[in-house]
Amino acid sequence: MSNNIEGKVVVITGASSGLGEAAARLLSAEGAIVVLGARRADRIESLADELTRNGGKALAVTTDVTDYDQVQKLVDAAVQSYGRVDVMLNNAGLMPHSPLERGKVDDWNQMIDVNIKGVLYGIAAALPHMKEQKSGHFINVSSVAGHKIRPGGVVYAATKHAVRVISEGLRMEVKPYNIRTTVISPGAVATELIDRITEPDIRESVRKMAEEIALPAETFAQMVAFVIGQPDEVDVNEILFRPTRQEL
Ligand SMILES: NC(=O)c1ccc[n+]([C@@H]2O[C@H](COP(=O)([O-])OP(=O)(O)OC[C@H]3O[C@@H](n4cnc5c(N)ncnc54)[C@H](OP(=O)(O)O)[C@@H]3O)[C@@H](O)[C@H]2O)c1
Repeated sequence: MSNNIEGKVVVITGASSGLGEAAARLLSAEGAIVVLGARRADRIESLADELTRNGGKALAVTTDVTDYDQVQKLVDAAVQSYGRVDVMLNNAGLMPHSPLERGKVDDWNQMIDVNIKGVLYGIAAALPHMKEQKSGHFINVSSVAGHKIRPGGVVYAATKHAVRVISEGLRMEVKPYNIRTTVISPGAVATELIDRITEPDIRESVRKMAEEIALPAETFAQMVAFVIGQPDEVDVNEILFRPTRQEL
């Protein structure tokens, strides 16, 4: 029986580490063709090599999601190489927390550019293909911070709330085209996300908090496989999950 994953062409942004990498590994093991986008070419190229050696089909395309042309090239590479795009996993993101009073404007701009505009660019690039195919699936990555606001994480929370708003609007707009939409909101998961917090005191306090409870990235990959693997008529629109011990 088909797992409804095998043979699907899945484009993944932020595939060079953490959640995106884990999703790529699991989906490839389940028979998906994965097209990997991120800025660190060496990481996605060696992942694509590894997945190919293991019998899968994988392609690495160096991509900065803040540049629409690059996102379009990523999606177009999937269509040129494999004929279609079945799933667009808009996962690339960053979380350089700090209180607003520190005025970390560059961090705010980067979060807005990657976490919000990157998702929109992924939609803009993949939607025309999915409309033509009359099938497809967008999976956008939000966060518990897309549901809850906390001091020190305001801009990140704003971007992740935006991802939920965009996903719900997209869900309604793509109804005529037989396209599924899912937003996944993880709690603490062990990845490189914390390493990119630019304020050292905040980085260490978030690390301390997360280290005690964070789930492995494979947990997220299982959620992605679950939503893709549902029968075509089933559209799982939202998943929110946390470590059992996570309070917020
Ligand atoms: N880990 C958690 O606890 C958690 C919880 C909730 C939500 N999330 C969300 O999960 C997503 C993945 O994060 P992660 O936890 O897996 O962290 P991660 O290990 O730091 O991975 C982030 C990924 O995003 C990519 N990325 C960052 N800026 C990019 C850009 N300009 N263009 C293209 N790719 C870019 C990175 O690749 P390059 O640096 O190679 O470009 C990397 O592959 C993010 O949206 C994050 O907000 C994570």
